[in-house]
Amino acid sequence: MNENKDKPDYGIDGGPLNKLVIVDLIFWGTAVFLITFPNFYLKAAAIILFICGLMLGFLIISMNFYTKAGKLIHRDKLLSMIDWKGNEMVLDIGTGRGLLMIGAAKRLNTGKSIGIDIWRQEDMQDNTHQNTLKNGSIEGVLDKIEIKNVDAQKMDFNDNYFDVILSNLCLHNIPSKQGRDAACREIVRVLKPGGTVIISDILYTKEYGKIFLQEGLSVKFLNSIFLNGANPGHKVVKAFKKISNHQE
Ligand SMILES: C[S@@+](CC[C@H](N)C(=O)[O-])C[C@H]1O[C@@H](n2cnc3c(N)ncnc32)[C@H](O)[C@@H]1O
Repeated sequence: MNENKDKPDYGIDGGPLNKLVIVDLIFWGTAVFLITFPNFYLKAAAIILFICGLMLGFLIISMNFYTKAGKLIHRDKLLSMIDWKGNEMVLDIGTGRGLLMIGAAKRLNTGKSIGIDIWRQEDMQDNTHQNTLKNGSIEGVLDKIEIKNVDAQKMDFNDNYFDVILSNLCLHNIPSKQGRDAACREIVRVLKPGGTVIISDILYTKEYGKIFLQEGLSVKFLNSIFLNGANPGHKVVKAFKKISNHQE
């Protein structure tokens, strides 16, 4: 049993939640102000602002739900897609506070779970190696994890090194298509034959799948898991590196 009484904190993605709440309040305040004028155009502008405010409010609520509870449900869904043996070498790309790295580590006995990140503050609040290590300690998996400062676009692991590669909400942060393609090719390079990769993201999952297909992997696209633990819009691509050309 874990004796540590602290709770792990898997962080707030993107970080702009407070700013979005302020923008939403401005939308609502301006709409209420404009609706008081006896002018058709101002009333129409108020209604547009009101609709924008509603949509933004929905986004804020869903982001908040995802951060507080959905993230853990989503993590468990992703991890349940792997048939764990306990001896896997696992890579979590853009681990942040270690959501998937630590979740995977809990399913291992002799295996190892490695998380890589470049600690961008705009992608996650208080994004540091130390905060991730703290979560690993609270969850009692320090002996099964390793955290490295590595860019997904150029990894320093040997070819065919990992049995399982995971990533949630990371690759879309790479600004260029060239960079995202390079990261996908790196994933294929470091994945062992017989290994599985699962990428969950809000954008570009079709692009990732296309590169995996080009590189000879078999690929499955999973439907958007609308509000089922995830942000609306999360999509998942799962790919398998064949052991030989004859294996499906
Ligand atoms: C939105 S956070 C998600 C963190 C974690 N995967 C989760 O689901 O809680 C995205 C993470 O990807 C990292 N990241 C962005 N670009 C990266 C890159 N090129 N290589 C490695 N990590 C990257 C960011 O620093 C951030 O920690």
